[in-house]
Amino acid sequence: MNVLIIGSGGREHALAWRISQSPFCEKLFAAPGNAGIAEVANLVQLDASNHAAVIGFCRENDIGLVVIGPEAPLVAGLSDDLAAAGIKHFGPSKAAAQLEGSKGFTKDFCREFAIPTGAYGRFNDASAAKAYLAGQPLPIVIKADGLAAGKGVVIAATETEAEAAVDACFEGAFGDAGHEVVIEAYLEGEEASFFALCDGAHAIAFGAAQDHKRVGDGDTGPNTGGMGAYTPAPVMTDAMMQRTMDEIIHPTLAGMTMRGIPFKGVLFAGLMITDTGPQLIEYNVRFGDPECQVLLMRLKSDLLPALIATAEGTLDKITLDWYDDAVLTVVMAAKGYPGTPEKGSEIRGLQKPASNPGVEIFHAGTKRNETGHVIANGGRVLNVTARGANVAEAQARAYAAVDAIEWPEGFCRRDIGWRAVTRENENP
Ligand code: AMP
Ligand code: GLY
Repeated sequence: MNVLIIGSGGREHALAWRISQSPFCEKLFAAPGNAGIAEVANLVQLDASNHAAVIGFCRENDIGLVVIGPEAPLVAGLSDDLAAAGIKHFGPSKAAAQLEGSKGFTKDFCREFAIPTGAYGRFNDASAAKAYLAGQPLPIVIKADGLAAGKGVVIAATETEAEAAVDACFEGAFGDAGHEVVIEAYLEGEEASFFALCDGAHAIAFGAAQDHKRVGDGDTGPNTGGMGAYTPAPVMTDAMMQRTMDEIIHPTLAGMTMRGIPFKGVLFAGLMITDTGPQLIEYNVRFGDPECQVLLMRLKSDLLPALIATAEGTLDKITLDWYDDAVLTVVMAAKGYPGTPEKGSEIRGLQKPASNPGVEIFHAGTKRNETGHVIANGGRVLNVTARGANVAEAQARAYAAVDAIEWPEGFCRRDIGWRAVTRENENP
């Protein structure tokens, strides 16, 4: 079948890399893609917000499956329009995408279906929010309700800081996303990203990873989309994975069906593993970036049949096999990220490290200039990914590849995977 991938990040490069290897994939297209995706797919200049144009392209090119990578087109209802046009797609409907698009929606949903998450309040004005704050323990978490690219969250250590965060939200610091504010209890524990494919009726676990959200070594500095990740996540033991399926994923699937908005796609649960078990911090309705890159490198099974089964409602017929290896990815970003990254610098020396066994370099914000050179074209630019017998070995290989890339205008964290490597050193 012919497949169209929507998106242009490292996540979409990893999806394209795996889908292009499938014997079921005939022609692969990506819109808009990037310089790395161009190695395995045909790039098309389609505007994903123009649903009619996407549908037209699918009809002209006999597309059998559209794989929607990022959240924005999902929240904008691309799936619904594809469904109405009879085009098979991977990704939830607009109504189901509220699990990511509205934090307030998800908190109310968790309360209704007894899904473990922190205590919270939802507010439409600053004075009610501040009145609620007065009685709450510190630290406390203030969130803009809508999509804010990971930036709409403040963990406030004092009431003054919390009040300032509330004011900033209502004064438009996160644009439209901040028209409503969610105030949430601070959860203590270790974070993990958990993934499950869901077809509306069935769910299968798709593994767990740990991400590094802060820009600086030692988990310092501002939040980013993610500076690196690894899988498996040691905190997600088989027992914790099973609890997450039983206590969070399955009740969510059942609740969404009960509300008449079945969830089909990948459910990404941002978890806090607390003393009492997994608690939901947030849902995303798409693969994590860069978590997807490490999950797909660890997946032994063909990805495409699993995506098709998700779209068709036949996930009960699918089993997934995984390599025993650990996989780790280091994000190389353009200087200035997560503020204003410098664009246009040339990246050299990609060929040699990419040919090392067990190394894949996924492109995020890259493009080719008029002379055919790869240049930086975004904040997060490359995902240097490696497998190893354990996280320490994957980490050493990934950084060896990073060091071979010639890009002085880029930077990365030097400690991706530190938590898992410390554990491995303590329990060899
Ligand atoms: P979110 O955008 O909801 O994933 O939040 C961004 C980051 O803020 C998370 O990855 C956590 O590190 C942190 N965070 C969010 N909510 C909480 C919470 N209730 N308790 C502790 N940390 C949180
Ligand atoms: N890496 C976190 C995310 O994709 O939201």
